[in-house]
Amino acid sequence: MNVTIIGGGAWGTTLAQALTDNSHSVLIRDINEAFVEKINKRHIHPFFDIVIPTSIKATTDLDEALDFSEIIVLCVPTKAMRSVLVDINSKLTSKKLFINVSKGIEPETSKRVSEIVNEVIKKKYFGGYVVLSGPSHAEELILRKATALVAASVLKKNAKDVQELFANEKYLRVYTSDDVIGVETGGAIKNAIAIVSGVAFGLGLGENARAMLITRGIKEIVSIVVALGGKMETAYGLSGIGDLIVTASSMNSRNYQCGLRIGKGMGVEEAVGSLTQSVEGIRAIVAGYEIGKKYNLDLPIISAAYKVVNGQCSAKEALTSLLGRSLKEERYW
Ligand SMILES: NC(=O)c1ccc[n+]([C@@H]2O[C@H](COP(=O)([O-])OP(=O)(O)OC[C@H]3O[C@@H](n4cnc5c(N)ncnc54)[C@H](O)[C@@H]3O)[C@@H](O)[C@H]2O)c1
Repeated sequence: MNVTIIGGGAWGTTLAQALTDNSHSVLIRDINEAFVEKINKRHIHPFFDIVIPTSIKATTDLDEALDFSEIIVLCVPTKAMRSVLVDINSKLTSKKLFINVSKGIEPETSKRVSEIVNEVIKKKYFGGYVVLSGPSHAEELILRKATALVAASVLKKNAKDVQELFANEKYLRVYTSDDVIGVETGGAIKNAIAIVSGVAFGLGLGENARAMLITRGIKEIVSIVVALGGKMETAYGLSGIGDLIVTASSMNSRNYQCGLRIGKGMGVEEAVGSLTQSVEGIRAIVAGYEIGKKYNLDLPIISAAYKVVNGQCSAKEALTSLLGRSLKEERYW
């Protein structure tokens, strides 16, 4: 099968290899000419300097990329998603299945990628939507290390098709789900908690604090997922707690690293700018905070992080305010 990937960064090029291992033909579209050249001429992953299959091709030409296949994998940072979709929509001439692998929420609107796709793509060219998410560092999947993801769609057939497209028996296991809201929301909001976990470590705290933040953070993810209409069990699955575990404690996570730098005293913008790959978590903090306000949710960790991001207090003050909250019963519902 032919598959087009929009965005050939760390994750897009890694997924291209997984698809190629399953004998699919992949064309990547990226706006970065240096990446495209690296893939086409040197057959090297743009971020990891690892040799990738020679059959993976890349282009800067969106028309060529859209003509190549009926399956479009969206893998650009969420902040670019709307404008990328507007460009795609203006060039569509046939129905496409959209597979989103980006993890984020649009902070200005609190919209998930599925909602943006629904708004932007003309109905006659919309051939379905699947979100593919879960605990997955590109740094590991590119080395074909065992990974599990979940493919969620409101149409069972589409989720199944994507499961079969990506899964292989050697290193990539894919589950299906019908909970698009839960999978998209968990994948986005876990980045907010990952930043906080990094901040705590940067402030000199230890494993106890990390466990506290991950565990209480999952409660906040559950609250947001359920408020938006997703299922609680999805937040406890691969796309929620699974992804939080892998993101909130690993130097491979740019969100965790961004938090670490903030905790060590760097300004928020400087910390984001110091990382070469996209950091979705700062926007996820803002989106999570706005959703919490709208639905009147109790989100102490995200609210404290929001104050830091907004310059209303320092990371240390935010931590002190979290610890100083009134004592209560431990509840997860
Ligand atoms: N890196 C990972 O391990 C990983 C794993 C799972 C999911 N994700 C998600 O995938 C998304 C992309 O992450 P990444 O790590 O690949 O980021 P990245 O910064 O490495 O790559 C993003 C790519 O998108 C390209 N791009 C930006 N605007 C574009 C446009 N208008 N048209 C085409 N290409 C454009 C950039 O040139 C870049 O190559 C994020 O939402 C991230 O959360 C990443």
